[in-house]
Amino acid sequence: MPRPIEIAPSILPVDFAHLGKALTDLEAAGCDRIHLDIMDGQFVPNLTFGPDVIASMRPHTKLPFEAHLMVLDADAMAKNYVDAGCQRLILHAEACPHLHRSLDHVRSLGATAGVAINPHTPAAEVENILDLVDLILVMTVNPGFGGQKYIASMEPKIAQVRAMINQRGLSESIDLEVDGGISATTVAAATRAGANTFVAGSALFRHEGGLKAAVSEIRANATAARAA
Ligand code: DX5
Ligand code: ZN
Repeated sequence: MPRPIEIAPSILPVDFAHLGKALTDLEAAGCDRIHLDIMDGQFVPNLTFGPDVIASMRPHTKLPFEAHLMVLDADAMAKNYVDAGCQRLILHAEACPHLHRSLDHVRSLGATAGVAINPHTPAAEVENILDLVDLILVMTVNPGFGGQKYIASMEPKIAQVRAMINQRGLSESIDLEVDGGISATTVAAATRAGANTFVAGSALFRHEGGLKAAVSEIRANATAARAA
């Protein structure tokens, strides 16, 4: 039985002057966890926030935090992110020359570990670390910014990663997450390809029915696509 469908909002579109309220609103809207996009201005051409801001967010929601580390040196601050209240750290395969060791380090800190792969990176990059992770994140945009167009040509790769996970008998222990351009429109194809957890930013915050309606619609469309 594959893992449940989950919605992980990216907080990039949020008004950062009202971050605490945004978190309580996202919890009330029925989200399953919070996806924190950490950018260092080096690995990606954008800069967001770090552990101190995450620590200030922590008291405002009971939802788990996953840190999407779009940074060149994830090892250097991994402990800071865990100490700030992140339950999962997602490392980019492209930024970790010793990915296996970095994932071991994340787990030694008491967090779970995930690996993200950019659009150009083949699924094979994650083949040898599946035993160390509870999430594989297939990027469906080039990382660095919210509000970009979903890259549908990633669907065969999503299917390849899903097949890899299932062939190893790991479908109950590993989430297959997609991130970038996910909306009520694109979520069905990503689900059919094999994803079970969905990061959404702009599609949640621009929905005319508000956050709760946006989360429900994406979840409903993913559920329907899985059942089809
Ligand atoms: C992009 C981030 C994504 C992005 C998602 O680098 O990793 O999480 O914020 O935003 P949308 O859903 O607007 O594409
Ligand atoms: Zn992200």
